[in-house]
Amino acid sequence: MDSTLKKHWENVYQNKTPEQVSWTQKFPKTSLDLIAQFDVDLSSKIIDVGGGDSHLVDFLIDEGYENISVLDISSKAIERAKDRLADKEQNIHWIISNILDFMPETKYDVWHDRAAFHFLTSKKDIESYVKIVSQFANHIVLGTFSKNGPLKCSGLPISQYNAEDLQALLKSDFELVSSHYEDHTTPFDTQQNFLFCSFRRKTI
Ligand SMILES: C[S@@+](CC[C@H](N)C(=O)[O-])C[C@H]1O[C@@H](n2cnc3c(N)ncnc32)[C@H](O)[C@@H]1O
Repeated sequence: MDSTLKKHWENVYQNKTPEQVSWTQKFPKTSLDLIAQFDVDLSSKIIDVGGGDSHLVDFLIDEGYENISVLDISSKAIERAKDRLADKEQNIHWIISNILDFMPETKYDVWHDRAAFHFLTSKKDIESYVKIVSQFANHIVLGTFSKNGPLKCSGLPISQYNAEDLQALLKSDFELVSSHYEDHTTPFDTQQNFLFCSFRRKTI
């Protein structure tokens, strides 16, 4: 199952340009705003989970963040991001792993995930993810398709969420800081309704 999933994503990043996939955004404004809202130090550890070849890392470097990790199941995605950042790469920690197999060696001050968590559809997988963030994250930004969003992403089934669902999943360790819905305009000029929630650990 895991190797099928990895093959799917390697294939996507091998064969499709950013303009050919729905999730591409030129400027990840919401993610940057929500990360800024936590007011963490520039030396804080930030991880972009399922980061793919998103430009979030570029903007975080430009803002002065010094300790950034990008995790993705696809080595091709990481390769693309690495190549793009060859000139300004400053010690980015590149991690190729299925998030469910990831065993962090450190706690992250900010855990960002836009459109990766929503691919987990079984109760077991969702609980495993929650267990990892509960152990290893202090602040979380989660972006998922909303209940008004698509049912699939990259041809794969996803789980749709509302703010109450995410809060219920994370409530034992985290408090909700903010939640809002927004439409993402895809490179094909269609709209996808996203939910973005941010959370802070109850006791840091
Ligand atoms: C829809 S894309 C979003 C990419 C990026 N976060 C963005 O906003 O542009 C989903 C990403 O999650 C990665 N992914 C999917 N399932 C994963 C898993 N189980 N573990 C790690 N990465 C995963 C994919 O390879 C892909 O890069």
